[in-house]
Amino acid sequence: MVIAIDGPAASGKSSTAQWVAEQLGYRHVDSGSLYRALTAALLRQGAPPERWTPALIVAQADRIALRPERTAFTALIDGVPADEEIRGGLVTGHVSLVAQVPEARRWVNQRVRQAAESHDVVVDGRDIGTTVFPDAPLKIFLVEDPWERARRRLTQRLGRRPSDEEIATETDVIVQRDSRDATQTVQAKDAVLLDTTYLTQAEQVERIVALVRAVSQRPNVS
Ligand code: CDP
Repeated sequence: MVIAIDGPAASGKSSTAQWVAEQLGYRHVDSGSLYRALTAALLRQGAPPERWTPALIVAQADRIALRPERTAFTALIDGVPADEEIRGGLVTGHVSLVAQVPEARRWVNQRVRQAAESHDVVVDGRDIGTTVFPDAPLKIFLVEDPWERARRRLTQRLGRRPSDEEIATETDVIVQRDSRDATQTVQAKDAVLLDTTYLTQAEQVERIVALVRAVSQRPNVS
């Protein structure tokens, strides 16, 4: 079983997908973590971004692995978990550049499909329901007002209530990343659109789990 969750930047896809996976005993595959790990490996390697050719990008792929955990995969760079580094501002500021390179996309898609070979999975990203798993029996497209996305992400990052000025700056960053990622962020025709602006995370998860249960009862679902 593959559940695809797509949507724009900071729309809560990853945490929702992780929570859904835990409830169902599936594994969460975070496709963005692979683009982020590639970007972090390139930054570590030291060449300036204008010299990131497709060959140099793909050369980093061997340094990256996905380690299976009980309900998730951890991205490793050179054998070591790199979660904090890959979520940092420097990687976030450069990742869309890497994600535009077709060779990088091919590699990520192949790694994501491999991760789904031996387990039921919840996969989150931008193009999971359209390109990576076009036959997934359940596709969700999450949308949320950019201000609310910024507010939630900052609250998580800062551990306190952000000011309106801080939210405005973060909203601008998020909207710009949306625009750089626009080509690959596509809602599949058969996706369920879920606007999470006025939903708590628990409510989002509940709805998706209910949809999974409904789909699992359909005849001929693999
Ligand atoms: O969680 P957040 O929305 O901040 O980003 P992410 O899912 O970790 O993805 C990071 C970046 O990877 C995005 O800004 C896209 O440039 C790229 N990405 C993509 O192009 N296709 C995917 N399936 C997943 C991520």
